[in-house]
Amino acid sequence: MASDIKLALEEAKKVCDLILKDELTRTEKDTMVADSVRNFNDHVNPGWLKYRKSVSTDATFVEWSDSGESFYDLYGQEFIDCLGGFGIYTAGHRNPEILEVVQKQLGRYALHSQELLDPLRGYLANILALATPGDLQYSFFCSSGAEAVEMALKLARLASKKKYYISTVNGFHGKTYGAVSVSGKYTYRQPYLPMIQAVAHVEFGNAQALETTIKNLNAVGESVAAFICEPIQGEAGIIIPPAGYLKQVRAICDRYGVIMIADEVQTGLGRTGYLWACEAEDVAPDILVFGKAFGGGILPITGIIASPKLWTEDIVNNPWILGSPTFGGNPLCCSAAIASLRFLLENDLPAQIRAKGAYLMGKLYTVQQKHEILIDLRGRGFLIGLEFPEPFIGWSVSKGLFQRGVMTGGTLNNVKTLRIEPPGIISYQTMDKIVAILDETLTEVEQSLRQAAAGKQCSTIQ
Ligand SMILES: Cc1ncc(COP(=O)(O)O)c(C=O)c1O
Repeated sequence: MASDIKLALEEAKKVCDLILKDELTRTEKDTMVADSVRNFNDHVNPGWLKYRKSVSTDATFVEWSDSGESFYDLYGQEFIDCLGGFGIYTAGHRNPEILEVVQKQLGRYALHSQELLDPLRGYLANILALATPGDLQYSFFCSSGAEAVEMALKLARLASKKKYYISTVNGFHGKTYGAVSVSGKYTYRQPYLPMIQAVAHVEFGNAQALETTIKNLNAVGESVAAFICEPIQGEAGIIIPPAGYLKQVRAICDRYGVIMIADEVQTGLGRTGYLWACEAEDVAPDILVFGKAFGGGILPITGIIASPKLWTEDIVNNPWILGSPTFGGNPLCCSAAIASLRFLLENDLPAQIRAKGAYLMGKLYTVQQKHEILIDLRGRGFLIGLEFPEPFIGWSVSKGLFQRGVMTGGTLNNVKTLRIEPPGIISYQTMDKIVAILDETLTEVEQSLRQAAAGKQCSTIQ
């Protein structure tokens, strides 16, 4: 495609005008739908249209606003959010108390010089140290969960001078090279091999497997820097380890001098009914990784917080050695994270999520009794998994929910288990509505499966 500066400017002006408008005309909306499909097809990736199609059938739902419990498309159609970017919206969509702080900060200054001291980063690090378990003290902020995992992995090697990482099969830690190296999913790793070589994967939930692997690596002259895991595996399909697992992991890491990294990018900040999922087992990791909901559902900010014993002279003497991301911990994002923590703590959102999660699970169990295709139901707080016998059944359920205005994951990768991750501020009334819609959708999917089976039988007899 040849460059055309005049057209580029025209397009940029057109889009700025659209953003600046309070109301769009019907024609403008129709044009935006057509533009979106064309632009994704020609300049992003046609694959996304197919992926979105998995729930929206014709790929023409264009999201344009959000508020409270829901997303809205260009025409104002509401979708109750039961997915929320896999857990971004714990405090709800554009929470007004968070938004007010962010807008005020935006009116002052957004990004930082990288030279002067920016006060909000310091305040945020202090608040985080006060709000995390154990002796966690020093923070490093970045912009994506994967980037935060990279920082955790680098810090572990820097601080321990050891080399190996141990992680879990089916674990998910993001898709940058280090993060995907310690992730445990074949489809995400295999095309990029070889990646970081000194990584061993063990079965999740099996503390004995971790200990054996550390012993074996030590026996052959290797050294283990860190063990990384999610307290509950999210992407793997909401896999909850046996009770006591994290405590056993903590004890094993202490016994062998291995750094324990808890990846709470998804489970953290109230999602599981505790501020941190590790706290449910009274465990404090050496490095805690956080992201997603940290920016209050408004801005992207992630990071790590580490025990002071890991903040060695190397790091103190060279504060750039871990990383120096241009946008990491910028004032605007820090304002969102501070306001988000204020909202979570002031309203004890983790306790609210614990109570609401128990209520929703109770209702879902009742629905499960009526529907054979819902073969398993598991979760903690608002991190809930609905398991179906086959991916295409999960896909049909996800699509049926979407058609009825409930958004869940339409993922191509693991749709056998649908994830339900509503905002923590969701009302009991909306939860009842979701359950009723799920019940209706499951009935419809079961009916169509029966019809398909009967059709097959007929054609076999003929
Ligand atoms: C546990 C966990 N770690 C890391 C990540 C990567 O985060 P990001 O997509 O922001 O890079 C995710 C994303 O889903 C996650 O669930």
